[in-house]
Amino acid sequence: MANRTPVGKLLLFGATGDLAQRMLLPSLYGLHADGLLPEGLTITGTARSENSDESYRKFAKDALEKFVPKDRMDAKAIKSFLERVQYQALDATDMAHYKDLSAKVGDVAGGLAIFLSTAPSLFEAVIRGLESAGLAGETVRIGLEKPLGYDLESSREINDTVATAFPEERTFRIDHYLGKETVQNILALRFGNSFFEPIWNARGIDNVQITISETVGLEERAAYYDGAGALRDMVANHMLQLLALIAMEPPARFDGNAIRDEKAKVFRSLRLIEPQDAPRDTVTGQYGAGASGGEIVKGYIDELTKPSTTETFVAIKAHVDNWRWQGVPFYLRTGKRMPTRRSEIAIQFKPVPHSMFSNRGGLLQPNVLVIRLQPEEYVQLLVMAKEPGLDRDGIRLREVPLNLSLDAEFAGSRRRIAYERLLLDLIEGDQTLFVRRDEVEAQWTWIDAIRAGWVANDMKPKSYASGSWGPSAAIALTERDGVTWLDE
Ligand code: BG6
Repeated sequence: MANRTPVGKLLLFGATGDLAQRMLLPSLYGLHADGLLPEGLTITGTARSENSDESYRKFAKDALEKFVPKDRMDAKAIKSFLERVQYQALDATDMAHYKDLSAKVGDVAGGLAIFLSTAPSLFEAVIRGLESAGLAGETVRIGLEKPLGYDLESSREINDTVATAFPEERTFRIDHYLGKETVQNILALRFGNSFFEPIWNARGIDNVQITISETVGLEERAAYYDGAGALRDMVANHMLQLLALIAMEPPARFDGNAIRDEKAKVFRSLRLIEPQDAPRDTVTGQYGAGASGGEIVKGYIDELTKPSTTETFVAIKAHVDNWRWQGVPFYLRTGKRMPTRRSEIAIQFKPVPHSMFSNRGGLLQPNVLVIRLQPEEYVQLLVMAKEPGLDRDGIRLREVPLNLSLDAEFAGSRRRIAYERLLLDLIEGDQTLFVRRDEVEAQWTWIDAIRAGWVANDMKPKSYASGSWGPSAAIALTERDGVTWLDE
């Protein structure tokens, strides 16, 4: 099937799981209520547990009631949405079950989109099952949710398995950060305005900081999270995607190939952190007890109830080795149980070459561009201004924010959750915001080198109090270069 053709059917694996309840069903409902789903599109849910169509519709309705904002709930729209929904139980390892699944889904000549989120160990069985039941042909495309492996080798295995049935142009790898409105705004900011580009390089920029901090802890995801850790869970995908959007060359067109080609070049230009540099350029931490998000919380080990050396915090000094970014550090930092929930990129520009104010006491700070992705959405440029006064005791200069609040500017328009856009793109066949195989492999190559450095140096995460910004070594990581993390 040619790209960009809407499909007539959707098949959701993991249909009774947490992601389905919180994100997928509410997103599909949102699209349905706005008339954006193709006419007649059916949604088949599948998972291990037994359900009739009726009991699954009830499950879906409960999920909407819990997770869709009240002002978006509309009885008529809910009713017609649930009419699209049906269910088929599946033991993913039992090939015989796929026949029933295929019978339930029905004829896929008009196109089928599959959303697959499954444990890496089940990929082989699922792909074989889909193929054997005729659910992998030309008219079928597949969306893959992470984790797609835990290192380069396992990710290659999964991608090879998927590729035996689905060629790259029918494979949609999800990184939900790419579905976020403000993340796409990075493209608008960089490539829709002329004034940043001349200084968007090593001549104009001193350093870049990317922070994704969360207040939540393990959240009943121990089975997955303890085997993953912050580096694989957040850096290998979301943070590197943000870095690529900041660092990439201007793509010629807003399309899947042009944008992904440029991102892939960034990933391939990331300087590998050699084992001997890991202790200097990376910091890992694990939260202990403390207070986060306004409550007293347990430490990671107590939550997990067994010993673990999994990192819940990581800070890294990265470099993109090309002309544009030579000598510009990219500081990355992410952690659970931090003081606030925040995703933010701070770009610190170079200081002016000479200060004409120094003989009059005026102190200058370098300009900073802050792109706040969540929870608020804004772009802020910190600029120097003169404090009002007659300046008899010298000129007083102060850093003040030039503010662009996207929340306020676009107050009338509804913010869609990332999965609304990504599911619609999957249904319509637009790959622009999905991750290509070469991107994923270049990401893992860089991540694996860091992990190898941790092993070689026997680096264990340092404990940090819940509600703090991580181990003090994370502060030293930037301070050594005379740079301070931009905290509130
Ligand atoms: C997921 C991670 O990919 O992203 C979670 O597995 C993390 O650990 C989540 O909490 C963060 O996403 P968001 O959209 O809340 O920033």
